[in-house]
Formats: sequence, structure tokens, C-alpha cells
Amino acid sequence: MRVETLLSLLVVCFCVGAGGEDDGGDEDLHRSTFDEQLKTLEKQFANHLGIHRYRPMEVPKFKDLLDLTGITQELQTRTFTNNIQDRIICGACQALIRNLQRNAITIEVVGTAICKLYISLNTWTLNDFCQQVVRVNKPILEYIVKNSRILTPEYACSVLLQNENCYIHHPSLSWRLEMPEGGPTLPTKPPSPPGDLTRPLKVLHLSDFHVSHDYEVGGISNCGYPVCCKRGLGNPIKGRDAGPWGDYNCDIPPWFYANTLNYINNTHRDIDLIYFTGDIVDHSIWRASEEENAREIAHVFRQLAESFPNVAVLPAIGNHESVPLNIFAPPYVTEPGLTQRWLYELDGDLWSRWIPKEAVANVRRQGYFSVLANHKLRVIVLNNNVCYIYNWWLLYDTHFLKEQLEFLKTELTEAESHGQFVHIVAHVFPGDKECIEPWEVNYNSLITRFSHIIKGQFFGHTHTDGLKVFYSKIDGSPINVGFNGASLTPYTKYNPNYKIISVDPVTFDVLDVETYSFNLTEANLYSHRTPLWKRLYSLKEAYDLSDLFPENFDMLAKRLREDRHLFDQYWRFYVREGDASLRDGCNQDCREELLESITRTESLST
Ligand SMILES: *[C@@H]1O[C@H](CO)[C@@H](O)[C@H](O)[C@H]1NC(C)=O
Ligand SMILES: *[C@@H]1O[C@H](CO)[C@@H](O)[C@H](O)[C@H]1NC(C)=O
Repeated sequence: MRVETLLSLLVVCFCVGAGGEDDGGDEDLHRSTFDEQLKTLEKQFANHLGIHRYRPMEVPKFKDLLDLTGITQELQTRTFTNNIQDRIICGACQALIRNLQRNAITIEVVGTAICKLYISLNTWTLNDFCQQVVRVNKPILEYIVKNSRILTPEYACSVLLQNENCYIHHPSLSWRLEMPEGGPTLPTKPPSPPGDLTRPLKVLHLSDFHVSHDYEVGGISNCGYPVCCKRGLGNPIKGRDAGPWGDYNCDIPPWFYANTLNYINNTHRDIDLIYFTGDIVDHSIWRASEEENAREIAHVFRQLAESFPNVAVLPAIGNHESVPLNIFAPPYVTEPGLTQRWLYELDGDLWSRWIPKEAVANVRRQGYFSVLANHKLRVIVLNNNVCYIYNWWLLYDTHFLKEQLEFLKTELTEAESHGQFVHIVAHVFPGDKECIEPWEVNYNSLITRFSHIIKGQFFGHTHTDGLKVFYSKIDGSPINVGFNGASLTPYTKYNPNYKIISVDPVTFDVLDVETYSFNLTEANLYSHRTPLWKRLYSLKEAYDLSDLFPENFDMLAKRLREDRHLFDQYWRFYVREGDASLRDGCNQDCREELLESITRTESLST
């Protein structure tokens, strides 16, 4: 969710050094041009963060923030040609990196100023946590600024502002893996067994729990911080209305998590396997510590194991599990405090009840693994958080991503040679302008090469119920589909959900995906009873699909563009009819972004 982009602000500053001539003209004119620049910068900044509705910061306040970073003067003595103004944020970002590298500015000062701007854009009111966010990120940022051999202003801003057209070609972004000989050979639609007497496999897809262990019923849901309903957060004048089953502006109470597992266990007696696509820890990212996260992670997996004693869980790591948020170091970095070794070792231990020894060894190394779920189905679980553009280590090195992509390639090659099929499970949704180019491009090449055996890809992270159609890098035909598990947390403005995936027991094709959800407003009104879960929709029925093969999703993407009614339904499911989202609606920009995102699996290709 967007809260993690908070940290991107530590590096993306509004310091400007992007050329242009000093017009030396009339002072009033100069001032108004300067004010315009600030507004443009703020707008581009908000856009970068996906914030489309915001109250602009008052200009004097914005200037004060700039003063903090000591660059006001530089900014005022420059004006911008239209051309540069279009990309003022790139110039600003580059100037910041330059200043950091020259030690002209400290990470604290910049981070705090940016954190404050971010809070203002989101109309939160309290910023006393900025200091903490800066403090936890400081050691690693300092290390990278000091030691990186690839960090240039242009490179850094290509990575961080991927969606803002700041891109430059760079060897760290353009490397490509060699693809194994051959290609998709089997038909993409293997014949179904006659009569199909065997029952489909049932896979429970869970995603994005974000358990708030200090959730307070009757707490303050509009607390002025990025996430609310926590003991001691906010001013009671704002109303104490956090409901017993959760809130659209908050993460989930622990009893709701337990209740949900219990409900699923009692309702779906035929679950064969569980995919969990990551994110356990809540959004109060300023409070995260290794000890707290470790406790939360252990607790959540233990409960999962107790609720489903006879079912294997195949979990992926989410970007919220690390400390600091989003940070996943290359395997060769070993300094304590800079690595996530504690997390990999912890998960390896916790997951050993579900996965075999070699898989555990892989998890303990770098958080990813592969298992045979049965004789024919290989499930490859990735730790693709490494590709997330807010993983600061990408400013240090990108070649370390190769190791995991090579692992994926090896597993796919082996699966192919053994006549097995593959499901891929990972946290970050590719193609959403948040995953670095070399990961996405090479990942797509692997999907193209092995599309005939990859029968499903399952992701999380966005909290939204989105689809992805993958296209062949060779001939552009639709070849694969990615499913997002959406989220158990209602944060923000969604109804909680889980999914049941029906899988063909012979071909391992996805036959249908059913999404279960409930009305959060209503659950809180009738708080004495368990939430009334219901089947919100079946993918196959809702879109009248004959099967869930890529061709049909390619066609669905086109139908959604043409049929407004159908699109509205897609969007309602996308937010699981969360009342708070339905009140906001989906305007033209939102619609365009949703439609584009369905067919975009490489962020820089559109
Ligand atoms: C889940 O169901 C199984 C039986 O299928 C039962 O043994 C187990 O105790 C249940 N777990 C919970 C937490 O109710
Ligand atoms: C959810 O429940 C509330 C309270 O009963 C109701 O006002 C609202 O319309 C419901 N939302 C949907 C999408 O049905």
C-alpha cells in the first residue's frame, strides 16, 4: 500500500538544480514563477505517490520546508523552460542526490522535510513519527550513499521515479538473462481428462493480513496518522468510532484474524493447500522493530498452523515484514543491522512445519523456495520484494537479483523436463510501476518461455482485487494470467476478503476463483455476531467466461474497456464493495489506470 512510499520521500526531494537560465527579470514575476514551480513540483510529487486528490500545501509553508533543506536560494535563482518544468521532479530528485553525495545536506533534514510534505498531501495532521522513520532508515541510506559504486543522480532517479519519466539507460537496468533453448511446446490448453471424475484441488488464497495487535475498539479512526484505531493514537475529539470488526482506515484486530481462520476452517472443509502472498505486520511503520515484527510473524503463522493442522501453507514474504520497511539486502551483505537474515531464519524455522528441508535452507538464505505440492505441481514461492523500487539496495546493486531469477529459471527448466506444472506465488504485483526494470523484463521472458507449464501466478501487496494478463515477448499473444489475492485488512476503504481457487487436478489449470467478503459497515452495526461472510463473486460466472485461459482474459480486458457496466462491476469487486470506496467512486483517471494495469506487466513498456 501507499504508506510504504512514505519512505521514498526520504530520497525524492524537492531540491531543484535542473538547469535553466536566470531570467533576472522583474521581481514579482520572478516570485510568481517560483510559486508556480513549487505547485508543479508538488503535483508531480503527489502523482508519483498515486495521490490524486490533495489539498496543496500553502506556498509559504512549502518554502519553509525548502529552507530546511537549504536549497531555497538555488531554487529561486533559477527558472525553468517548459520542457524542464514538465519533469521538474526529475531535476529536483537529481539535485537532492547530488547534494547528499556532496554532504551538503543530511539524510535527517531531507527525510524529515519530505515526510512532512507527504503527510500534508495526505491531509494527515501529525508528523511526530517522521523522526522515527528517518532514524530507522538512516544507517542503510548512509551506507549506500557512501559505498555505492553505481549511485549517480541520474541512475537513482531512474529507479525511484520509474513512473515519472525520468528514465535513463544504465547497465544496472539493462542486463538480460539468457533464456534456455526451446519454447512453449505443449498446447496451452492441455486436454482435460474425460468425464473429469476427480474433484478439483481447492487452494485457499490469503493475502495482506496487517494485524494491528494494539487495535482499540472505540479507538479513534480519524487519528491524524497514516493508520489509526490504535491505543493512544489521536485526539478523542475526533470521535471514538473504531468498530469491533475493523475500520476502513485501520488494520485488523487480532481477534478478527483468529475469527476469520476459524470461519474458513469451519466453512470450507475441502481445502488442500494454502497460498499466502505476504504482509503480516501493520502499517504503523514508524514503530516496527525486529523484535516486534518477529513476534507478530511467529504469532500469525502459529495461528494459521493451529487452524489448519492438516493443510500445508506456502507463504511468501511481504515488504512489511522487513525492518526497515521494504529493505532486502543482497546475499553478500552480512553486516548486522543491514541484512534481513533474522527474518529469513525466522521464516525458515516457522515454515519448516510445511516445507521440506532443502526448501527451508533456501528460505533461510534469501526468503524464496520451491516445493512439489504433489507429484505434478511445483509451487515456486519468490521473495520479489527485492525488486521493489523502494528497496534502497537497488541504488547499490541490481545484479544480485540475478540469483533469484536464475533460481526461477532452474526450477522452471526442471519442472519442464519432469513433465510438471508450475504455480508461482509472490508478494509484489509486477507491472504496477513499483518493480525495477531488469526484474520485470527478465521475469516476463521466463513467463514467455515457460508459459505452457505455468498454470497460475498469485500475488498480493496492492490490497486490490486486480487481474494481470501476460503477453508473449515474442509474438504478443496472451499467454498467462496473474491473480491478486487482495487483502484481509480493509486498509484502506476495502471490505476484507479471502479467495478459494479451484484447480484442475490433472492439468493444474485454474478453473475458477471465488472471492468471499462481507460488508464491514454492517458487521460493525451488528457487532455481537460474527461477520456475515458471503461469496462476493466467482470469476468465471461474473464475467461469463468459458474457461480461465489467457485468451479469455485478454478478451475480458477489451470488454471492460468497451462496456461501462462491466467495468463498474470490475471496480466494485476490485474494492470488494467497501462502502468508503463506493462513496469516493472511480473517476476517469482511476478507470484509465485500472484498465491499463490489467494488461501491463512491464512498467516501462507503456
Ligand atoms: C479446524 O478444523 C479441524 C477439522 O477439520 C479441526 O481439527 C481443528 O481443530 C479446527 N481448527 C480450529 C481452530 O477450529
Ligand atoms: C453495507 O451495510 C450498510 C449498513 O447496513 C449499508 O448502508 C450499505 O449500503 C451496505 N453496503 C453495500 C455495498 O451493500
